[in-house]
Amino acid sequence: MKVRKAVIPAAGLGTRVLPASKAVPKEMLPIVDKPAIQYIVEEAVKSGITDILVITNRGKSLIEDHFDHAPELEEKLLSSGKTALYEEMASLAHLCNIQYVRQKETKGLGHAVLCARSFVGDEPFAVLYGDDVIISPDPAIGQLMRVYEKYGKNVVGIKPVPDHLISSYSSLGVNQVCCNIYNVYDMVEKPTPEEVLSNFSILGRCVLTPEVFDILEDTPPSRNGEIQLTDAMQVLAAHGKMMGIEYEGTRYDMGNKLGMLQAIVEVGMAHPEIGADFRAYLKQLSID
Ligand code: UTP
Repeated sequence: MKVRKAVIPAAGLGTRVLPASKAVPKEMLPIVDKPAIQYIVEEAVKSGITDILVITNRGKSLIEDHFDHAPELEEKLLSSGKTALYEEMASLAHLCNIQYVRQKETKGLGHAVLCARSFVGDEPFAVLYGDDVIISPDPAIGQLMRVYEKYGKNVVGIKPVPDHLISSYSSLGVNQVCCNIYNVYDMVEKPTPEEVLSNFSILGRCVLTPEVFDILEDTPPSRNGEIQLTDAMQVLAAHGKMMGIEYEGTRYDMGNKLGMLQAIVEVGMAHPEIGADFRAYLKQLSID
């Protein structure tokens, strides 16, 4: 079965990037000239996704405005002859079918995904974490979708994480199937040093079967009171229903300050309009 639907959880509180995320959702913070969530929606659309559900909460209506028409702005751009910019802005309202649902309590990523149950129905679906931007010529979620379509199992996007950071991520037990594809037989969220299974962690993307919803319904909150998606995916892994792909692409964690800066610098350096000037500026800075 083809994957057509995607869920973007974007209802977190973004406490690691306060005060920037106090009134502006962290998913709307820009990388140069585009909000993070636009990169994510474009990645999904390029991969063949036709329907997206964004999980939002209070104060996230800016996300809805971004993917809608802005009649005054569009008229102004047209009347002043800025046709290319007009077309770019107007096209944001038609990237694909985007719907929204509110997560009424911030009870964790697992709880956010559970809010997508009626949207998803009985199809496999992609999950793109709203604060993980992945830049890749071959869109990351498309790489996972191809693994799902080949093996018919749940798939997580994985990458190795340095030893000193693994306790802030998840850790996976894996067996290599071929090149960058693995069977995932176990996983643990935010492991203690004794619990670490490997340096592979889930970074920002997965493709899940609707079976995960029944598991999430029965998943108790973890130590921090949140329902962890990893805990539900662990059940699938333990039953031999989970694979992983070490996807190609650079992932930027827009949920922390360093990740935001890395994204802005690297995307800025490659930017068609300001890249050359920005590189010259950085060079000048490093000489001074
Ligand atoms: P994070 O744990 O990185 O987001 O969740 P957070 O809770 O906003 O982070 P901090 O610790 O407070 O800085 C990963 C993704 O899941 C979403 C977030 O918006 C983010 O895109 N999320 C998280 C939800 O949609 N609902 C939640 O209850 C928690």
